Amino acid sequence: MSGAMKLGFAPFTAPAKGVLIVFCDDGLKLGAAARKALKPAGDLIARAARAERFTGKSGSALDLIMPAGLKLSRLIVIGAGKTRDLKQKDFLKLGGVAMGKIPSTASEATVIAEVPNGAMKAHETAELALGAQLRAYVFNRYKTKRKENGERTESVAVTITVSDVAAARKAFVPREGIAKGVLIARDLVNEPANVLYPEEFARRTLNLKKVGVAVEVLDVKAMKKLGMNSLLGVGIGSARESRTVVMRWNGGKKGDAPVAFIGKGVCFDTGGISIKPAGGMEDMKGDMAGAACVVGLMHALAARKARVNAVGVIGIVENMPDGKAQRPGDIVTSMSGQTIEIINTDAEGRLVLADVLWYAAKRFKPKFMVDLATLTGAIIVALGHEHAGLFANDDKLSDRLTKAGLATGELVWRMPLSPDYDKQIDSKFADVKNTGAGRWGGAITAAQFIQRFVADKTPWAHLDIAGTGFDSRQSDINKSWGSGWGVRLLDRLVADYYER
Ligand code: BES
Ligand code: MN
Ligand code: ZN
Repeated sequence: MSGAMKLGFAPFTAPAKGVLIVFCDDGLKLGAAARKALKPAGDLIARAARAERFTGKSGSALDLIMPAGLKLSRLIVIGAGKTRDLKQKDFLKLGGVAMGKIPSTASEATVIAEVPNGAMKAHETAELALGAQLRAYVFNRYKTKRKENGERTESVAVTITVSDVAAARKAFVPREGIAKGVLIARDLVNEPANVLYPEEFARRTLNLKKVGVAVEVLDVKAMKKLGMNSLLGVGIGSARESRTVVMRWNGGKKGDAPVAFIGKGVCFDTGGISIKPAGGMEDMKGDMAGAACVVGLMHALAARKARVNAVGVIGIVENMPDGKAQRPGDIVTSMSGQTIEIINTDAEGRLVLADVLWYAAKRFKPKFMVDLATLTGAIIVALGHEHAGLFANDDKLSDRLTKAGLATGELVWRMPLSPDYDKQIDSKFADVKNTGAGRWGGAITAAQFIQRFVADKTPWAHLDIAGTGFDSRQSDINKSWGSGWGVRLLDRLVADYYER
């Protein structure tokens, strides 16, 4: 884990040294605790604000080095904008902005969790802390010259001072699990494919046992026995063996049908025999972002002891060209019994999902399934990097995902499914083929393909996260290439609608 900060809570105090961070509104007003801490500095802030044209706009900052009259190394005033109607999301963002302002040379920093109207409430403070933790993440495992480059080498101790320490700590406990879940997902996505191949990915999921998740790893033999030839065909050209991992968290009522999360875990996608062009192919180490999200989510649910039964199923493979690799024109028989004609070996994610979705629905009979997959370039053409594509056979599930998206800032946008698209994937030689008639509507024909492998009309949603899982929009709470997108969204979906 590459979290570069140690977090603590303490009662409001005026720190004697180090970095101090306070929040002001768009009238430059500070809260009582901040005013007290800054008293010896007189009208320093007002003068500095005038000189810098700092107005307290949300997310802006006034950065004072060695502020006169104070013993601090740095005073950072962060604008919180209109502080009367701040939402949970705003506190998350402020935590990220605050963390981002702490210089890499600092060893300690104090944040006064207060807006001019008063002390932040416990859950607001906890969101602030979550935002700071998400922002602090850096993936620098392979940077050997951190010191020379002026990058942070040791983690900074951040103390958030609050009015009620016990309440803040308590509110932070579940967020700590969520934060770690996001960081687990980011680490997995950022890791290169020579390090993180299917077996190693599966091995890392065993860490979930520490928080009480049951983990089962299916090897090639086990998958052959189940008839998962669609998934296995994708991995057959790789020197690395495929795996499927099943993760279970039982925090709900005994015997209650679980909620299920399914992930595409293509550790590297060369395209296979339908090989991709060289430019940008390195990004395809992130083609397992869906699976990474499921792992991070399972951690979050277990760590915060979510009162729900949840299963995560991920198909982990590497898509390589080779003498043994699958060819265009090949026909495989999926676990469902449906035969699939491979038209393009680069449309491999759907082949993996076909078997894991079928397996999950049949084995667990879940309340619903949500799959996540960096499935198509076409979804990036449609939605860019701001929304993930949402496809669903169930309006209720779709609405709930949309609401959870708005609440967390991990946005989804619903796309259509219909028989008119579906007929494009009928095959001349088999039951179905793995690409549509042409490029157009490529994210939709991919979703139609997956839908054919949703057993027993299980309520199902598919999230195409090609635009959000990696190389996505950088934000105040994410500076990482692998974003960990979806962990907070799905944790919220569970928390708001499926916990007993
Ligand atoms: N993993 C890719 C999709 C992708 C592309 C994700 C860019 C993130 C960024 C997927 O396996 C793929 O190659 N899809 C093809 C499908 C096509 C062959 C029908 C695509 O989108 O071009
Ligand atoms: Mn591909
Ligand atoms: Zn892929």
